[in-house]
Amino acid sequence: VVSAGPTLEDIDDVRFIGNRSSGRMGYAVAGEAARRGARVVLVSGPTALDVPPGVEMVRVRSALEMHEAVRVAAADADIVVMAAAVADYMPQTRVDGKIEKTPGPLELRLVRTPDILLELGKARGTGVRPVLIGFAAESGDAEARGREKLTRKGVDLMVANDISRSDAGFDSEMNAATLISTAGSEAFPLGPKTALAGAILDRAEALLQPSRQ
Ligand code: C5P
Repeated sequence: VVSAGPTLEDIDDVRFIGNRSSGRMGYAVAGEAARRGARVVLVSGPTALDVPPGVEMVRVRSALEMHEAVRVAAADADIVVMAAAVADYMPQTRVDGKIEKTPGPLELRLVRTPDILLELGKARGTGVRPVLIGFAAESGDAEARGREKLTRKGVDLMVANDISRSDAGFDSEMNAATLISTAGSEAFPLGPKTALAGAILDRAEALLQPSRQ
């Protein structure tokens, strides 16, 4: 199971808030996993990308929809890769129609969305399936923050990338990342997202080996 793209949280029938994400990283992971012979369910927020060959698509819009689709798909999955840029906040209430524009400011009350990855980590507990892989887009010390998330969310691998780099990340075909696990950290130098997808899946496959049961 791979999640990808942004989630969009509707304010009214016209406006929304969300995260920046082209979906490219998750689509690259899904496409490469299918190429390797896996049955792949790609749970995707709105993107402009083509469906990778051999991948089963589940299209969602909001964090709540992604939460439900990932929960269902993850129930019998060997590996879950959460590459989606899930919105952390959603409007407390969604207004029907269009909120009328007035000269003054508009106040919105935002509430937290469920942390899908954290929940998967908690549900797995001390088990080893599914293998859980998360992403951490950071503008500060990517490695330290990624390691903190590895532990707190109870996942096997965090892919941390520095979003302040102009040559990688958002809307780019390229990415540079640090692959963080309990075994240590590995730098993945600037390269195509398809190559990073392969490196992530190599590690996921190693984590699936029966010796870990
Ligand atoms: O905490 P942060 O958003 O930085 O964590 C990023 C990781 O957690 C990503 O793998 C993302 O897909 C996942 N996530 C999630 N649900 C959220 C927020 C993030 O699954 N509400």
